[in-house]
Amino acid sequence: MKPKSCFMVMAVVMFFVVYKLTKFQQTQEEMVSISHPFDSMVEEDTTEAVKIGYLPQGIIESQSDLELKPLWLTKSSNLQKDDQPRKNLLAMAVGIKQKKNVDDIVNKFFSENFTVILFHYDGNVNDWHDFEWSDSAIHIVANHQTKWWFAKRFMHPDVVSAYDYIFLWDEDLGIDNFHPGRYLKIVESERLDISQPALDPSLSEVHHRITIRRSKGNLHRKVSDSRTRRRCSGTNNGPPCSGFVEGMAPVFSRPAWRCVWHLIQNDLIHGWGIDYKLGYCAQGDRTKRVGVIDSEYVVHQGVKTLGGFSEEQNTFLRRVQTSKGMIIQNQPQKKSVDQSMHRIKVRKQATLELQKFQDRWDRAIKDDENWVDPFQPHEGGSEDQVLAKKT
Ligand SMILES: *[C@@H]1O[C@H](CO)[C@@H](O)[C@H](O)[C@H]1NC(C)=O
Repeated sequence: MKPKSCFMVMAVVMFFVVYKLTKFQQTQEEMVSISHPFDSMVEEDTTEAVKIGYLPQGIIESQSDLELKPLWLTKSSNLQKDDQPRKNLLAMAVGIKQKKNVDDIVNKFFSENFTVILFHYDGNVNDWHDFEWSDSAIHIVANHQTKWWFAKRFMHPDVVSAYDYIFLWDEDLGIDNFHPGRYLKIVESERLDISQPALDPSLSEVHHRITIRRSKGNLHRKVSDSRTRRRCSGTNNGPPCSGFVEGMAPVFSRPAWRCVWHLIQNDLIHGWGIDYKLGYCAQGDRTKRVGVIDSEYVVHQGVKTLGGFSEEQNTFLRRVQTSKGMIIQNQPQKKSVDQSMHRIKVRKQATLELQKFQDRWDRAIKDDENWVDPFQPHEGGSEDQVLAKKT
């Protein structure tokens, strides 16, 4: 190579290097001077326009659903799936021992075009496959987990945002007198954010009197005692006298579920205490937006499972029996010693969690200076009296 051309090549390379360096420095300076990109990303997470990495806004898909999608489109799948989007979701924690009852429930909900997700807490999925609907349901397995554990992990509000109403049910509900479609019509027309079907008192395990079915009318929103000094007498308007549903068969509107999901504590898996706070997730006055549907009702069989609240304290149950002479037919049967030991332990844990939950709530109220209790003047129920004393 001639020295001249060698020099030329060197010059071009040098120029290129210098150019690149300057450019790099420039962009670096730009990035630093305009903002600290990572700092601002963290900050902006709390604002509405969330920056996700370096993605352009338009590509960000923050929501999802639980619909099964075909691997390829055929004419029939095209026709079937797309013109009738599913709008409501049934989620249940199930064990194979309740197979027959779950089959009844799922069939009824599938015929109303619900999407169904089953949480298998006993690890057994295979024995469900003889049901025709099995392939249409979503199955999730995790051993010995509760309904609340599953719901927290697999029902994030963004994941279930496609559904207008979410049924988060126990598996031991008798639904001979319950129709999902008719139920939803009432809930919609009454604008209930949180609801449950009433319990048939003659056949159900009852914990709270507000859940007992009334024979007249479509629904009720409160229960009141005529005798003074009873829990729901006078001005006691708070849960469990109104604004209250129990954990075995709650139904949530989309916005209510977004709130309830946040209320469910990641580590407190028995869910005790949540029922008393559900009213805070109504989109308005809990005495209006929370209700119990009487015309569509269920039997709460009170089978002791991991499903959810089935281990609830039944002090009220006893009171109902003595004052009204009601017969509770589904008293728990005699159990083996082993089972009883488990029951006792679960109960102890749940009680502990209830205390933790209450402590967290109290602390959260104290720490949040801007928080105002919208229901303050009408608080009722023993739990809230404790709250009032503490503050
Ligand atoms: C359920 O979906 C089918 C098929 O798309 C439709 O024909 C039927 O009317 C729907 N039923 C209800 C109760 O929405």
